[in-house]
Parts: sequence; structure tokens; C-alpha cells
Amino acid sequence: MSNKKGFTLWFTGLSGSGKSTLSRMIEGELRQRGASVEVLDGDEVRENLSKGLGFSKEDRDTNVRRIGYVAKLLSRNGAAVITAAISPYAEVRDQCRLMSRSFVEVYAECSIDELTRRDVKGLYAKAISGEIKNFTGISDPYEAPENAEITVNSETQTAEESLAIIMGYLEENGHIAGVAASA
Ligand code: ADX
Repeated sequence: MSNKKGFTLWFTGLSGSGKSTLSRMIEGELRQRGASVEVLDGDEVRENLSKGLGFSKEDRDTNVRRIGYVAKLLSRNGAAVITAAISPYAEVRDQCRLMSRSFVEVYAECSIDELTRRDVKGLYAKAISGEIKNFTGISDPYEAPENAEITVNSETQTAEESLAIIMGYLEENGHIAGVAASA
């Protein structure tokens, strides 16, 4: 009989800070351990659940609330839910926290200097030149969490190190069984 306890691992952080990469790595780890996992990735959600929404505060809040709602539905049915949207506003993140039973906020930290240097999608250059307006961290607010359960940093840690920190937290706090216990 399954007695899986669902939880929500909620990433927040600027575009390019490593949310999606880490989400996929954690997804793999959790699947290997037999968990039911769903990833609600920012870009994918915007392609499906939130198609048509833009980047005003109102639209971002709507987008993030939708993610919170789906995370609630899935996590209460035993799924491990990983969300990876910028989710720039603290108030809405906190509303999502209240909706899900076990909510673990992960701050994916990285400096603007480093993100601008990497600029994987070429969006920071466009934001700086003004071609893209209201870009988070450049011309739109980002409210870093003050009480995130976990903080990782893609500038000072490798992805594997960040992954180990997150998996360690989930084990220590009873969200997942330890490797030895699940064997
Ligand atoms: S959120 O603010 O509503 O949480 P979300 O994570 O869904 O944002 O989408 C962010 C992604 O949209 C970025 O990674 C980037 O690829 C793209 N994007 C396009 N325009 C913007 C913008 N103005 N600000 C931030 N991200 C943008």
C-alpha cells in the first residue's frame, strides 16, 4: 500500500538562475526512489496552463497562483511537486505556501552580473537595451525570499552540490526516505 506523503518543492529565482536545471535533476533522483513526481516548469506552464499571460504584476500573480493551485492538488494526492517559475513576489509565494501542506521554498540565488554574463537565452542583453520591457531583475522587481527553507547558488556551487543540499534537506525533514531506508 502506498503511504506517500506529497510535498511541494518551490523554486524561486531570476531567469537563468538554475531553477529548471535543478528541477530536472531532482525529478530524476526522486523517480529513482519511487516517488510520483511532477515538474511545473515556468516556460512549460506559460505554454500550456497560462498561455496568453504576459509579465505585468497582475499576470505574473495569476500565473504563480495557478501553479500554486495545481501544486496543491497534486501534492495532496501524494505527488512530489517541483515548481520552477521566477515567482518574483513574496506575497503570492506565501499564499501558495499556505495552500500546500508541505511546502519547501528553494531560493536559486545568482547575481545579476553573472546572469548577464551567461545570458543563455539572450534575454538579459535585450532587457538592458530596453528591447524587452519589465524584465525581472533588470527593469522589474524581484523580491528575494527572507525565510526560504533552502538557498542554493549557481555561482558558488556546482549543480551537483546544490542537488545534494536539496536532497539532504528533503531527507532530514522526512519528505523522502533516506537512501538506506528505501533500499
Ligand atoms: S513569473 O514571473 O510569472 O514567475 P515565469 O517563470 O513564468 O515568470 O517566466 C519567466 C521566463 O519567461 C523567463 O525565464 C524568460 O525566459 C521569459 N521572459 C520573457 N519576458 C520576461 C520578462 N519580462 N521577465 C521575466 N522573464 C521573462
